[in-house]
Formats: sequence, structure tokens, C-alpha cells
Amino acid sequence: MLTPIRDRLSQHLAKYFNGKSVGELFEIPKDLEHGHLSIPVFSLSRELKKAPPVIAKEIVNDLLTNPITGVANVEAVGGYVNFHLDELEIFSTLYNETRKAGDRLGFRRAGEGKTIVIDYSSPNVAKPMHVGHLRATMIGQALRNLAESQGYKVIGLNHLGDWGVQFGKLAYAYQLWGKEYDFETDAFESLFKLYVRFHAEAENDPELERKGSLTFKKMEEGDTELLKLWRKFVEISLEHFDKNWRRLGVKHDLVRGESFYNDRLKGVEELLRTKHLLVESEGAMVVDLSDEKIPPCLILKSDGASLYATRDIASAMYRFNVLKADIALYVVAADQSLHFKQVFSVLRRLGFSWWSQCHHIGFGLYRFKDAELGGKMSSRKGQIIRLEDLLNRAVDLVKQRMTAKATESAAAAKAVSRNRDEIAEQVGVGAIIFNDLVNDRVRDVEFDWEQALSFEGDSGPYVQYVHVRCVSILAKAARRVPDEIEPTRLHKLDSPEERKLIKSLLRYEDVLSQAYQNFKPNIVANYLLELCADFNHFYHHHKIIGGEAELLDSRLALVWITQSVIRGGLKILSMAAPTEM
Ligand code: ARG
Repeated sequence: MLTPIRDRLSQHLAKYFNGKSVGELFEIPKDLEHGHLSIPVFSLSRELKKAPPVIAKEIVNDLLTNPITGVANVEAVGGYVNFHLDELEIFSTLYNETRKAGDRLGFRRAGEGKTIVIDYSSPNVAKPMHVGHLRATMIGQALRNLAESQGYKVIGLNHLGDWGVQFGKLAYAYQLWGKEYDFETDAFESLFKLYVRFHAEAENDPELERKGSLTFKKMEEGDTELLKLWRKFVEISLEHFDKNWRRLGVKHDLVRGESFYNDRLKGVEELLRTKHLLVESEGAMVVDLSDEKIPPCLILKSDGASLYATRDIASAMYRFNVLKADIALYVVAADQSLHFKQVFSVLRRLGFSWWSQCHHIGFGLYRFKDAELGGKMSSRKGQIIRLEDLLNRAVDLVKQRMTAKATESAAAAKAVSRNRDEIAEQVGVGAIIFNDLVNDRVRDVEFDWEQALSFEGDSGPYVQYVHVRCVSILAKAARRVPDEIEPTRLHKLDSPEERKLIKSLLRYEDVLSQAYQNFKPNIVANYLLELCADFNHFYHHHKIIGGEAELLDSRLALVWITQSVIRGGLKILSMAAPTEM
């Protein structure tokens, strides 16, 4: 968000870096003492045959004799050149850039011209979305938003689990018992009940399993009646998924279920054969991966049926060869690590150079502190925490809290009465999303209602609340926010709280880029928490309205930038930024 200043510096420094673009090299030091921007010069050491500190000093001397607008001071610290910028210049640049950027605040163009395919959520037909789907869904959507912020063309792919022997079983169950259920008004519930019933009855009746498999075989052979039934199951399920996705702000660009690859599987098999990669093992066909000390990748079952891995191989070829992906992300739980290791290894053995651009974005599980929700989940037995139940419960708890607050203050009562339901939805759902994304994805999530919904702690509602506070300060001041501010029209905000807040705001652009590069949305969530803490410090230490009159406009500008950054960050996390709560 300091593009103009960065550009001026880059131009001047290009001669040291062989004309290479210097823009990407800048770092924003964590500590204010080290300036606002910093550039490491270690990479120049070999070519210039000088120690990095010597090079840093030379650059500093150069800049001292050729000052650059906006730069107040430069210093060499070890192998870094640190830039202390003119604070008014920074502040006005930050304001003007934020104003100009609108919805694209903090966006970069690093990924321009490149396509990234992101596979996320990808649930299985006929099974309700449960808590376990939250991570694959929200981490995926956030990564998609982050990739867009870096300029990539993003294709969000839904690799729907819509094929396999379970659909033969389901179709068979439907033929047996379908009439007993109400598919008119309660289609999805009926479908799930059939699924659970089939598995319950099959435990005592192995014949059911056999009939189910047989039915699937007929489906694979193209039985039109059965396929019609199957299509109905898929539609019913997508409707159910859509309801959840809508509430969570989740969008895909393409649905390419596992069934989509049916007519590409022969091709995969043949390719593996020509490359002499297929071997027989206990009647099945596999790719041997023992040189990597991992189990073989199963390609064809002994009855000739294809497998999850075979479809993923076909799907990867589709992503790179047809969709022209440059990168493919698979946002799938860590318990599928071995599966992706195997698939990626087969792709490498097939000689696809792009195999190294496939990334499994794994994540941990949910653990529940709440005994009532604890225990093991099993969709076969119908024992799961439904995603919609979790969301509804969060929204209800928020409503209760809003009601409690409303009895305390008249202002809260007014806000609550107007848009109560809408706000409760934004805050309740936001709380669940934030609670998911604030965790480093590689770890398990300890789910705790208190923590998730706390209005004060490190939670979604807390961040949203700071946003509301900014909005209401600006509304109360009732001053026009100018489109552009000249540095000379601003007052220096140089209290420690104000400087710290400005510094944190400056980091936003880097935070987005780091979060993308590490595929870790929690970097954004944690940044928002820090930013909110910095804002609250500022707010508690300084009177904005009714404080020093000459500082009012500058402080309002600061509040406005803060509000924009919080809103932008929440949007990346697929959360709403309410204007009252
Ligand atoms: N449907 C799978 C499941 O629920 C996830 C699919 C992930 N994507 C993939 N390309 N394998 O476990």
C-alpha cells in the first residue's frame, strides 16, 4: 500500500540489482525501530565480491547524497538497508492508496497470467455436511480469495464425491424402501435416512451388500433408469450443500464430480500400461511405489472397478491439460496425505513435469471440549454434528447475547431491533468461520463455544465489533471523507499508539502475500487480531471526536483506513463486516 514510495525506491535501487525488479524484495520490519521498509542485500554479495554490510553502507551513502521523496532517513544494519519514511508522506500515501484500491485493497499482481485450480469442500453425495467439512470449505474459500488478491486466475473446483459402489447401494435401498420416505418435501433427509438404514440393515444381511454392488455394476454399465435415480441423488445433495455454502460465502466455479472422469479412466489405465507402471498384485492392478517406502497406488480393483486414486489421476490431467492450470491445490484433511503422496508420485512417474505444482493443503481435525458434542462422528450411523446445526446454534447464542445487551443500553436496543436476524447471522456464522481460520491449519482445532463467540477475546465477533466501532466513529463525526489528502493537509500523528497503528496498517499488503505463499489463512486472521488490539489502544488513549481539534481530520482518516483494512481482511476470510451489532 506504499506503492508510489516503493516504486521510487525500486527505480533508484535497480542499478544495484542488475535491473531486476526490486519491488518484491522489500520487507516490512516487525519492529518500528528498524524503519518502515527494509531490503536485504545478501544476494548481491557474490557478484559484487563484497560483504553484505559493506554493500548496505554503500547504498546508504548513495541515498544520503541523492535523497528520495518520502524517505526521511536510511541506515545500514548488517546486511539490510532500512528506510525510515517520512511519516506524513506515508500516512497520506496509505490513505490515498486505500481510497483508490476500493475492494482490491492490498492486492498484488504477482500471479497475473497464471491459473490456479483449487479443489475445496468437495463433499460426498447423500451425506450431510458436518463439522468436519468446515475446514476443507473455509480454508479453501480463503485460499481462493487470497489467490485472487495476488492476481491469479482462480478456478474453484468442486470434486464432488458422486461415484462409487455406495451409489449402487443407495439406488438399491431406494428401490426397496424409497416409498416409505417423503422425497417431495424432505428430499435430502430422506436420502440420508436411506443411506443410514441400508448400512444398519446390511450389518445383519450380507445379501444387501451383494445386491448393492451388483446395482452399482449395472450403473457403471450405463443402466438408464439407475442413472436417472443417481442424477436425482446428486441434485438433491447439491441443493443441501448449496444452502450451507451460501451462508458461508463459498463459491465454486466448476463442479467436476468423480463421475466426470468415468470416460477418461481407460485412458489413464492405458497410459500407465504403456509406461510399464502397472503391475499385478493380489488380482488388482497397482503402481508400485516401494522405492519411496510407501504402499502401492491402487488403480484397478480385482473386479475391474476403478478407484478414488484413479479418478484423481484423471482429474489432475484434466486440471493441467484441459483447464491449463499452472498450480493445483487440494484442500483436503491431513488423513488423506498418503493418498495424495501416492497420486502425485504416479503423476511424476508418468512424466508430467507439472506434478511438482500439485500441493496437498492438509489440515487437522476438530476436537470438542463440549461433552455434548463430543465423541466420535460417523455418518454411517447418523452420528454427526451437522454443519447447519453448528451454524444455527452459533446464531442463536449471538441472538441471546444481543438481547441481553439490548436490555443494558438504548443504543444497542435500537440496532438490535432493526436488523436483528441479519446481524446475528453475520456474527454467528462469522464466529464459526473465524474460529476455524484463526488456527494454523496443520493443527487440530479445539472447539470451545465460549472462545468462538466471545465478544472480547480473540474471536470473529471481536474483530467485527472493532469494525462496527470504526463505522460508528465516522458516522458520529459526520464529516466528508475526502478522496485524496495532500500530506500538507495532514497532521503528524506521532503518539506511540498512532504510530503503531499506522505501522500495522502498512503491513496488510504483505500479510496477504505471505498468507498466500504459505497457503495459510490464519496469517490474515491473526493479523486482524493484532490490528484490532492496536486500534483499541489508540481508541482508548486518544479522544477522537472532541479531542485536539487540529488532529480531528487526521485521526478520522486513520479510523477510515483501519475500517477499510478490517473489512478487506474479513472479506478474504469470507466473513461479513457488519456496520452495527
Ligand atoms: N470427497 C472427498 C472426501 O469427502 C474429498 C475429495 C477431495 N478432492 C480430491 N481431488 N480427492 O473425502
